[in-house]
Order: sequence, then C-alpha cells, then structure tokens
Amino acid sequence: MTNAIEIDSLGVTFRSRRGGEVRALDGVDLAVAPGRIVGFLGPNGAGKTTTLQVVLGFLAPTRGTARVLGLPAQAPEARERVGYLPERARWYPFLTGRELLVGFGRLFGLSRRAAADRAAALLAEVGLADAADRRLGAYSRGMAQRFGLAQALVQEPDLLILDEPTSGLDPLGRMAVRAIIQRQRARGAAVFFSSHELSEVERVCDEVAILVRGRVRVRGRAADLARPGESLEQCFLRVVEAAEAGT
Ligand SMILES: Nc1ncnc2c1ncn2[C@@H]1O[C@H](COP(=O)(O)OP(=O)(O)OP(=O)(O)O)[C@@H](O)[C@H]1O
Ligand SMILES: [Mg+2]
Repeated sequence: MTNAIEIDSLGVTFRSRRGGEVRALDGVDLAVAPGRIVGFLGPNGAGKTTTLQVVLGFLAPTRGTARVLGLPAQAPEARERVGYLPERARWYPFLTGRELLVGFGRLFGLSRRAAADRAAALLAEVGLADAADRRLGAYSRGMAQRFGLAQALVQEPDLLILDEPTSGLDPLGRMAVRAIIQRQRARGAAVFFSSHELSEVERVCDEVAILVRGRVRVRGRAADLARPGESLEQCFLRVVEAAEAGT
C-alpha cells in the first residue's frame, strides 16, 4: 500500500541574505497511511509549517525526500490530489465565498452545475451558507478560516493537509472541523494536520507526531505515547523538555 505521505531524512536550511542560516528541519522521518488522521504537534518554530510546505511541493528540501501519494512532492499530478488549508490564508477580497469556490471547482474540471452544487454543499458544511454571497473581504477571521477548509475540499482530495485548522474557530467551528476530518477519513482520504489544540488532536487523530527543533521525537497512537496517567499535554511537555535538554 502506497503511503499518502512518505518523508525520509528531510532537511531544510534557510539561508538569509545576511549570511545567517536557520536549520528548520534536521532529518524528519514520517509516514502517513491512506485513510489515517495524523496530528502534527510541536512548539512554535519547530518546523511544522516548513514540513507541510515541502509535502505540498512549495519548498524544495535541502536534503532527504518527500513523496506524496507515491509521487515526488513536486509532481503536479500529486498536487492536484492534495487539498490544503494554509496557516495564514488571504482570499480575493472582492469575490464572494460562493464565487471563489465555484471558480476553484471549475479549475478542477467540474461543470458549471456541478461546481455550483459543490460550492453550496461545502459552504453549508462549514457553516457559511448564510454568508455565501458576502464578499470574502468582509468575512470575520473565523469565517475566513472556515472558508479555507471548504476551499481545501473542493476537488475531494486523497490527501488533506491542514495547517492549524481550528485556530480562530468558535466551539461549533471546532466541532465542524472534527466532523469534516472524520468524514474525509471515511471516504478513504488521509489527513495530516498541525495543531496546538492537544485535546482536539487527542480526540480526532489515529496517530500523532511531535516535532521539536526540526526532528520528529516521537510518533504513534496518542494513548501509546503517553505514560500511564499522563495526559497528551503532559506527554508533549516531557518530550519537548527532553529534546531541548538534549540538543
Ligand atoms: N522563509 C523562511 N526564511 C527563513 N527562516 C524561515 C522561513 N520559514 C521558516 N523559517 C524558520 O524555520 C523555523 C521553523 O518555522 P515553521 O514556520 O516551520 O515553524 P512551525 O512549527 O510551523 O511554528 P508555529 O507553531 O509557530 O506555526 C523557524 O525558526 C522559522 O523562523
Ligand atoms: Mg506553523
């Protein structure tokens, strides 16, 4: 079975014009199987977004490899099958949510009618039915986040990559995100998402990986990673402290 994501010895070093270097990823190994939900945890600056950018083919690794759905991450055929919610999304402010979603549907080859139906269904799924015909520039932060999720689902992707999907969402929005993620798994898609919401991650994920300073320190089922009586939060703190003491 081909993994939805297969990352081996991935390294990314950013070089600044002033001659400085930031080693954002330092040998990341990770696999996400089809039909699995994997949560990606780690402190600010650990390298989560950088990893996702490589998986999406936006960033070329300095070393190591990333394969997506059996293809090199930078292959256009791989990218077409991946839905993506960015960490900081900016949408065309003058289009309405419906107009932009229909446009994305058309780009993915849907007929006018099918694109309109898909847009309406997705807007309802993320709780934006009432705001469908409002300009995106007038969406609140949480509404823009919800729209980002709808946009990531337009082509019914085989792999869904979400960079902090619940950030800025109210409790109902979080529940909607959870339901959407689970529905994607039910259709056989793999979901890989970064998050700082440990209770959310614990609820929805089949597996978690904890990244600290550019390396995956532990991965597996949340229940297996935590010691007896330990919450995922306590486990997270222990792993981060051990990694920071050791590097
Ligand atoms: N384009 C860039 N140029 C230089 N350094 C970068 C660039 N992008 C990221 N970095 C650095 O790489 C490291 C990892 O950043 P990244 O955004 O991947 O972290 P993260 O785990 O997503 O953090 P957060 O939880 O805050 O979103 C940080 O030290 C960051 O400053
Ligand atoms: Mg990030």
